[in-house]
Amino acid sequence: MSQRPYIVGNWKMHGTRAMLAEARAIDRASERLMTAEVALAPPFTLIHATRNEASLIGVGAQDCHAADGGAHTGDISAAMLKDAGASFCIVGHSERRADHGETDAIVRAKAEAALKVGLGVIICVGESEAQRDAGNAEDVVLGQIEGSLPTGYNADHISIAYEPVWAIGTGRTPTLEDIAAMHQAIRGKLVSLYAEAGANIRILYGGSVNAANAAEILAVKEVGGALVGGASLTAEKFLGVIAGAPDEALD
Ligand code: 13P
Repeated sequence: MSQRPYIVGNWKMHGTRAMLAEARAIDRASERLMTAEVALAPPFTLIHATRNEASLIGVGAQDCHAADGGAHTGDISAAMLKDAGASFCIVGHSERRADHGETDAIVRAKAEAALKVGLGVIICVGESEAQRDAGNAEDVVLGQIEGSLPTGYNADHISIAYEPVWAIGTGRTPTLEDIAAMHQAIRGKLVSLYAEAGANIRILYGGSVNAANAAEILAVKEVGGALVGGASLTAEKFLGVIAGAPDEALD
């Protein structure tokens, strides 16, 4: 498996076709920045166009429905995402857990649906500020992993994103020691759930990653990449994050 960090831009509910120029610029520059594996998760409406514009980077979705199809007005199945050109799907982002009441069981069902059609998945977990203040961050995150992670699938297709809710969009990040401790704990849980294959599952960090802090965060042990929100919306900012990938990660 590649040791290059996996750096994924989550555009959230941002982007019309005017933003395809940013995707194109990120794709073109990625040819030079081979120190990272780069991907974008634009809104559903831009997946197909982004795939057509970009030839090097991965293109994925931010969510899918757990069912194969049926009477689910407004929802999108994993097979539809694949048909539109997606190669992976983010599931369980804290904004979906909060805004749409997604439980661990729902997130797991979505992850299974995506894996079944051959998409990669990025399963998001992370504690709230109150949970961290109460000293429960690790229990919360490991519990989310236990509840949200499907077992019995090819672990190569699964990544975890640790995104503390209080660090998302706030400009605040945990200390490097806290990131290291949580990623280490997550690694232990992955190995207990997936045995040896769990040692290779990439664990991304997300929450206020930017060009200024990317290098130090990506250098933390067990940090296998980053899930980036605001700093992925322009090529200039996102390329600054990608430039933080350590050179020694080159294959
Ligand atoms: P920000 O990088 O804007 O904090 O968002 C992180 C995130 O939620 C990515 O999924």
